[in-house]
Amino acid sequence: MQAIRAVLLGIAVVLGLGGVPGGEAQLDEKFYDGSCPGVHRIVRRVLKEAHQADVRIYASLTRLHFHDCFVQGCDGSILLDNSTSIVSEKFAKPNNNSVRGYTVVDAVKAALEEACPGVVSCADILAVAAKISVELSGGPRWRVPLGRRDGTTANLTAANHVLPSPRDNITMLQRKFRAVGLDDTDLVALSGAHTFGRAQCQFVTDRLYNFSKTGKPDPTMDAGYRVQLARSCPRRHGNRTALRDLDPATPDAFDKSYFTNLQASRGFLQSDQELLLAPGAPTAAIVARFAGSEKAFFRSFASSMVNMGNIRPLTGGQGEVRKNCWKVNGS
Ligand code: HEM
Ligand SMILES: *[C@@H]1O[C@H](CO)[C@@H](O)[C@H](O)[C@H]1NC(C)=O
Ligand SMILES: *[C@@H]1O[C@H](CO)[C@@H](O)[C@H](O)[C@H]1NC(C)=O
Ligand SMILES: *[C@@H]1O[C@H](CO)[C@@H](O)[C@H](O)[C@H]1NC(C)=O
Ligand SMILES: *[C@@H]1O[C@H](CO)[C@@H](O)[C@H](O)[C@H]1NC(C)=O
Ligand SMILES: *[C@@H]1O[C@H](CO)[C@@H](O)[C@H](O)[C@H]1NC(C)=O
Ligand SMILES: *[C@@H]1O[C@H](CO)[C@@H](O)[C@H](O)[C@H]1NC(C)=O
Repeated sequence: MQAIRAVLLGIAVVLGLGGVPGGEAQLDEKFYDGSCPGVHRIVRRVLKEAHQADVRIYASLTRLHFHDCFVQGCDGSILLDNSTSIVSEKFAKPNNNSVRGYTVVDAVKAALEEACPGVVSCADILAVAAKISVELSGGPRWRVPLGRRDGTTANLTAANHVLPSPRDNITMLQRKFRAVGLDDTDLVALSGAHTFGRAQCQFVTDRLYNFSKTGKPDPTMDAGYRVQLARSCPRRHGNRTALRDLDPATPDAFDKSYFTNLQASRGFLQSDQELLLAPGAPTAAIVARFAGSEKAFFRSFASSMVNMGNIRPLTGGQGEVRKNCWKVNGS
């Protein structure tokens, strides 16, 4: 059964690749077969170690790859710290005090530098870490195209504008995904990553108490779920940064419950529920399909992750392979 699923996913991923705009087919699953054959094994080992101390890490690393790829492509730009030449994306509104996992990326990089110095890029580490994180959480497996080079620039302004906001409506979400070549199926499938990980109270309090300045809760949220969330995210004297599960059903498992939650009006973010409820939204049918079939969700998620990983990669002689993920070589 597992083997059959793997073969089906493999086919889906290959078909998915054919639809990538811009033809960034230079990435290759076998890229490190000669130069660093242990890359997957090493990343997996470091991630499993990190997970012993932090059950949230698989979700955090999956998100890190997303926030890298949307901003000037999958070039590891999000990992760069402030320096004379860099204004770090880490302090952009969607990232500051929110994106995490940087130290685990550094640990992976250190282990890879030990095994194969100067070979594996930080951008590829993010792609492999996301893939292994999903797999270790019970999600689909896919072959991840590799060979990305690391960028030597970052763009704080872009990070502030191109990443989706939890209060974006369906039109904005579609626009931001289309801007990087991703369609409605990618949008819905990739949003399914909210099947694991945490979010801060500050991203749901307006839905609980004062939705769109109406002074009332978001009418599209299930009342029982609202009461439950209100208890842990109180209106007054609450902790804005306190963490809640994005998926109350199975918080750390990668499964299709994100979609069944949406059907029960138990989406955490406005942008989540929007996929199902926006009037006339073409995404509603995709939500229903994934809620009904984990196989369908897993297959689409795998090919959409490949599509996202193909956003404007640097390849060949472009960019560099950083020695430290947080700084440009020689700086
Ligand atoms: C569709 C638009 C999206 C919006 C508006 C959005 C927004 C957010 C927000 C606000 C959080 C909580 C952050 C915090 O509380 O600090 C979050 C968490 C998360 N997001 Fe998204 N996201 C989107 C799409 C994605 C995609 C495409 C992925 C990956 C493929 C993803 C993966 C995650 C994960 C795994 C978490 C939990 C991270 C953790 O626990 O550290 N999200 N997202
Ligand atoms: C990095 O630079 C940005 C933009 O200038 C600034 O907002 C941020 O506080 C700086 N962070 C650190 C740690 O110096
Ligand atoms: C980032 O978060 C820190 C608190 O950790 C805050 O002091 C700083 O002002 C924030 N930076 C930006 C640019 O919002
Ligand atoms: C940074 O991103 C902004 C907004 O996406 C864009 O207008 C600008 O050209 C970018 N800057 C550089 C140097 O690429
Ligand atoms: C969606 O959001 C954008 C930006 O906030 C806004 O201009 C637009 O009117 C909204 N569309 C709908 C249908 O609410
Ligand atoms: C809801 O928010 C708006 C704008 O932030 C504010 O003017 C209004 O007083 C709030 N209503 C309640 C009942 O808190
Ligand atoms: C708020 O929640 C965060 C995250 O759980 C925690 O680190 C912090 O100590 C809390 N702050 C207060 C004032 O309780």
